[in-house]
Amino acid sequence: MSELMEMLTRRGFFWQSFEIYGGMAGFVDYGPLGNALRRKIENIWRKHFVVRERAVEIDTPTVCVEEVFVASGHVSCFTDVAIECESCGRVFRADHYIKDVLGIEIEPNIETVKEIIETYDLKCSCGGKFKEPFLFNLMFSTTIGPGKGKKGYLRPETAQGIFIDFRRLLEYFRHKLPFGVAQIGRAYRNEISPRQGVIRLREFNQAELEYFVNPREKRHPNFARYANVVVKLLDKNDVLHEVTLKEAVEKGIVCHELMAYFIGKTREFLLEVGIDEAKLRFRQHKDDERAHYAIDCWDAEVLTAYGWIEIVGIADRTDYDLKKHMEHSGEDLRVFVQFEKPIKVKRKKVIPNMKKLGPVYRQKAKEIAKKLEEIEVDGDVESITIDLDGEKIEITKDFFEIVEVEEEIHGEKIVPHVIEPSFGLDRITYAVLEHSFDKDVVEGEERRVLRLKRWVAPIPVAVLPLLSREPFTSKAKEIVQMLRENGFYTEYDDSGSIGRRYRRFDEIGTPFCITIDHQTFEDETVTIRDRDTTKQVRVKISELPKVLNELLTS
Ligand code: GAP
Repeated sequence: MSELMEMLTRRGFFWQSFEIYGGMAGFVDYGPLGNALRRKIENIWRKHFVVRERAVEIDTPTVCVEEVFVASGHVSCFTDVAIECESCGRVFRADHYIKDVLGIEIEPNIETVKEIIETYDLKCSCGGKFKEPFLFNLMFSTTIGPGKGKKGYLRPETAQGIFIDFRRLLEYFRHKLPFGVAQIGRAYRNEISPRQGVIRLREFNQAELEYFVNPREKRHPNFARYANVVVKLLDKNDVLHEVTLKEAVEKGIVCHELMAYFIGKTREFLLEVGIDEAKLRFRQHKDDERAHYAIDCWDAEVLTAYGWIEIVGIADRTDYDLKKHMEHSGEDLRVFVQFEKPIKVKRKKVIPNMKKLGPVYRQKAKEIAKKLEEIEVDGDVESITIDLDGEKIEITKDFFEIVEVEEEIHGEKIVPHVIEPSFGLDRITYAVLEHSFDKDVVEGEERRVLRLKRWVAPIPVAVLPLLSREPFTSKAKEIVQMLRENGFYTEYDDSGSIGRRYRRFDEIGTPFCITIDHQTFEDETVTIRDRDTTKQVRVKISELPKVLNELLTS
């Protein structure tokens, strides 16, 4: 276990799930400090991606009926290539095993994996041979209800819950694009051989925004905010560009302004929660790497002890998902969008001939005429079949005429496109911790310090009596209570020397320690010690809430 992971476990950030039963790879428990940190990161995400956008947040089930993922393509496409050892029965994710053993990066498909196994005579670490590689679907399946029940899956992304609520969301937004819909919640993937602690989990936390736009309008009203921000962009041909986002769009490195906007916004959010800018880049997916639903994708990657890891994916999902759900559900998920100016179009119109329809179809004639008028045709046709309350009636061309008319139209129905920034909160939380972990020397002694941003620190304030006896302890507890009532998450600690107690709070990133000393009893003041500089300032107890509030938010 690395020094960092040892500290994070000991101090209550992450724990191995099901530890007393031997643990299980791919699951993690958040202890009190890890949980507080992730929740703070989530709230900052909300500020950026919900509050500051024309966006809302919803919450949909993690168990979904099978139809959702048949339509979305996850049942057929959400797979990894696996290899199983004939002798020991262990199963590996093929591309990971090949990279670990041979150092070769491959695009995982059955043919390539077979070829590599043959060419390199690849064996399992136990010496056994591998069986034929096979595709393994990463979704956890389940049964809803008793007996045979209904097949369901645990969602592998939060996004689908948003797509299938699209009709309701459109009404909520009064049929006006663009708008964003966010969801923060659990996602599940039955990863084949998860390793790397919290980096690859079977149950993890996503924060996703689905931003619905008119495909002709891939711009964002606030793009100017990020236009001059310089970012590191590693394009799909492995060329690294260090350019402003405006230049990136102008030079065609990033395909449109909306994608560039979300790259800028993602960067801003990641820096605010404490990702080190020097260890951040955006990498474009190669053509054979993209998910089945995306035409373009840029990952935010950060450098960690595990190498460069993806923490965010920003994908152009086009109209893929809405179209698939339209096809499979029969629901019309199109949006009427108004043109700037009406346009004239020629179209073929069906004109019913009432003189002929009347004698033949009698009472039904009027209804048939109405249906015929609603039908759009491309050219001349021999007959038109209409549906009259479930009855199919074929009307031959003696009963209508087709004429070309010029019409003014004010808009059209389109299927919106989706730009999706998708965040892995567990990876972000871990990366923030790794990027904040530091060591320095204070008063001749090495100390471990988490240089977390003040606004994400799980325990922002600690109150420490200089001496572990009365009246210092009572006064300290009084101040703890006062701060808690003022909304500050505050801890109290009176065990060990004051120096050791400072180190304990430095190690978990507490930015401010308040000390009650002899002077407190003379003038009702305390000291506030800054974690990073270790400098102390004296403040009146009555002013603590105001001063701390300023310190913790600036
Ligand atoms: N809706 C799009 C989507 O799910 P993704 O790139 O597969 O895209 C988005 O996932 C983010 O979720 C990733 O950037 C990563 O941070 C996180 N993620 C994906 N699989 C994960 C896993 N097995 N364990 C932890 N985080 C994961």
